[in-house]
Amino acid sequence: MTNAGRSDPTVLKLAIDSKYSQEATASKSSSSCCCGSDRSEVPSDAQSVSLGCGSPVSYVSFREGMTLVDLGCGGGIDVFAAADKLRPLNGKAIGIDSTIKMIARARRTASQNNYTNVEFRLGEIENLPIEKETVDVVTSNCVINLVPDKLRAFQEIYRVLKQGGSMTISDIIAKKPVPDRIKKDPEKWSECVSGALSIEELKALLLESGFIDFKILEDSKWDKTEDQDLELASVTFYALKPKGS
Ligand SMILES: C[S@@+](CC[C@H](N)C(=O)[O-])C[C@H]1O[C@@H](n2cnc3c(N)ncnc32)[C@H](O)[C@@H]1O
Repeated sequence: MTNAGRSDPTVLKLAIDSKYSQEATASKSSSSCCCGSDRSEVPSDAQSVSLGCGSPVSYVSFREGMTLVDLGCGGGIDVFAAADKLRPLNGKAIGIDSTIKMIARARRTASQNNYTNVEFRLGEIENLPIEKETVDVVTSNCVINLVPDKLRAFQEIYRVLKQGGSMTISDIIAKKPVPDRIKKDPEKWSECVSGALSIEELKALLLESGFIDFKILEDSKWDKTEDQDLELASVTFYALKPKGS
């Protein structure tokens, strides 16, 4: 996606921070960008702030000692789901989010539920607080659409992944071009609508960042918006950082 037609990134970031700070303190999620599939085994406090659009963790093959990082983790629903799978494998899950109140809520849930193999870090996807080549799998659930500079986001994911590491991401995808009036609306951007890429734009950015083996794992109609000019889908995709890169 080019920068044409959308608001200034600083304005978008403010709208995102305001929306997700409110979501973090609500007892139940109110968002139009909600919900991923049910993960009833994870702590109820994380479930009640489920704002995703898919279930990326359900596609991950877990291995001994693995480190998984979930980007834009919100209240931590996917981090806790991954941590449950990783506990017997001596692995760990790290959640990253840019909203202070989301990180505070996720940390509280972790401590109240005695999770010892999770960590939550405040930070932005465009500048990940993670060392290079230390991560086996990156997941993310309904967040990439919110990032103004998506090439930078994929380059950061590439940097932190080990060679042979992969990402499994669920996101909102535009099946037809998002009209300019919606692209320019910071509130609609924060609701996971305006920043949706097309599949072609997504593939081009992944290729430019160095990823290979792009695969669509799930593609379903996203009908949580009533705007007639929008045709959105929830798509879960996979891509690999090649070995020897
Ligand atoms: C739609 S919510 C999804 C939350 C979570 N993944 C889930 O499934 O419930 C988007 C989350 O991404 C975070 N976020 C938005 N832009 C971000 C960025 N550039 N870097 C890190 N986190 C970001 C927001 O603070 C919010 O918690």
